[in-house]
Amino acid sequence: MSLGVVILAAGKGTRMRSALPKVLHPLAGRPLLRHVLDAAEALGAARICVVYGHGGELVPGAFADAAYAWVEQAERLGTGHAVQQALPAMTGVERVLVLYGDVPLIEAETLNRLVADSAETALGLLTMTLDDPTGYGRILRAGDGRVLRIVEHRDATDAERAITEVNSGIIVAERDRLADWLGRIRNDNVQREYYLTDVIGLATGEGVDVVTAQPERLEEVAGINDRIQLAQLERYHQRRRAECLMRRGTSIMDPARIDIRGTLECGRDVVLDVNLICEGRVRIGASARIGPNCLLKDCEIGPGAEVLPNSIIEGARVGAGARIGPFARLRPEADIGRDCHIGNFVEIKKAQIAEGSKVNHLTYIGDAEIGRGVNVGAGTITCNYDGAYKHPTIIGDDAFIGSNAALVAPVEIGPGASIGAGSVIVKDAPAGQLTLARSRQVTIEGWQRPRKK
Ligand code: UD1
Ligand code: CA
Repeated sequence: MSLGVVILAAGKGTRMRSALPKVLHPLAGRPLLRHVLDAAEALGAARICVVYGHGGELVPGAFADAAYAWVEQAERLGTGHAVQQALPAMTGVERVLVLYGDVPLIEAETLNRLVADSAETALGLLTMTLDDPTGYGRILRAGDGRVLRIVEHRDATDAERAITEVNSGIIVAERDRLADWLGRIRNDNVQREYYLTDVIGLATGEGVDVVTAQPERLEEVAGINDRIQLAQLERYHQRRRAECLMRRGTSIMDPARIDIRGTLECGRDVVLDVNLICEGRVRIGASARIGPNCLLKDCEIGPGAEVLPNSIIEGARVGAGARIGPFARLRPEADIGRDCHIGNFVEIKKAQIAEGSKVNHLTYIGDAEIGRGVNVGAGTITCNYDGAYKHPTIIGDDAFIGSNAALVAPVEIGPGASIGAGSVIVKDAPAGQLTLARSRQVTIEGWQRPRKK
């Protein structure tokens, strides 16, 4: 049976106190609404429609590349009214599931269960039981347990307020019947709003059996109204991801101090020290170790590699057994071979460094191709930019670059060549020989310092 998903996202988000619409605030590095859209996609929804309002075109603009329907709810007249605005976009679907742009951690598994459990009836409802149900719509049931209707907190009597089973807001309904019920709800309540929840009473009045399901964890249905709740849900979400990694064989020194904003895949026995931030797609091979305070973005760390503290690796690849840092910065297209050592205060951009080479201290390597077993001395700089163009530096296997050399590109250092410390190399240096490009040291005999008379 084909399913359509309506996501309500027209709320003002006043308590965020932000210029950014609430549903665009990030959780795990991605907009809240993105999480909900992903859940809808995971269900295989035939149509997805987002009802937006506050923030204008910023909201649809943030997801312009995908084929969702966007409906603007100019006036916020209630959840029932909001769903009604989306129904014309729900063509060719038999059932409609209602989700919320500010309830980001709802899991497709829970939704699938709700949709499956209620397949035989016109209405399914996700409910939960809370110690403190204040503010929520209460589920009223008959003596035999059948759902009768929902009463909103503000419209409820004291006796009804004592009920602890509440409405999560998530419902699934037959599209055509939902359209009919929504056409009949009224706004004669305390908030003068058209309540989606009034549909329940109309349905049961027609003899519809309402099926309920519960989420496995309450955080799945937690809505975000302010930045405190956002931060709490972020920590919850990160904790879950950390636990998932630990279950699969990764050691995490402190699961409260890791942030995965994208995907992180780890081989067995990877060790992650504190304050790691991962962005985009990160893969870490078996037994690799990541030291404290590292930022890894869209990169691949080979098995057994070691990233020492305070290193930043972005768009780069690190070979097996290599050692990076502390305080190293690998920029896009840095490709570090197996067993290489890249040391402190070394920056590498768009450069291939082959197996076993060492660049240990205070160096910039850009637009370069470095062979195997090369030793690049402290303070070496590839002068790759002439102010208009970038030029390549090529260094052959087993070359030795003395400290503080400036390699003015384009330039090639032959295999086995040695470059004297402090040289400014502007021409190719031949293989196997020592090349120096610096003034000779002289001592002036009998020279005396000037002295005051
Ligand atoms: C709603 C439910 C309540 C449930 C609670 C769970 C109704 C009437 N009540 O109450 O039973 O326990 O959620 O959190 O549905 N929205 C729009 N357009 C509107 C109104 C709301 O897009 O015109 C969106 C809001 O952005 C928000 C969501 O719908 O994300 C819920 O609306 P809100 O008014 O906050 O409903 P609650 O009072 O929380
Ligand atoms: Ca709410």
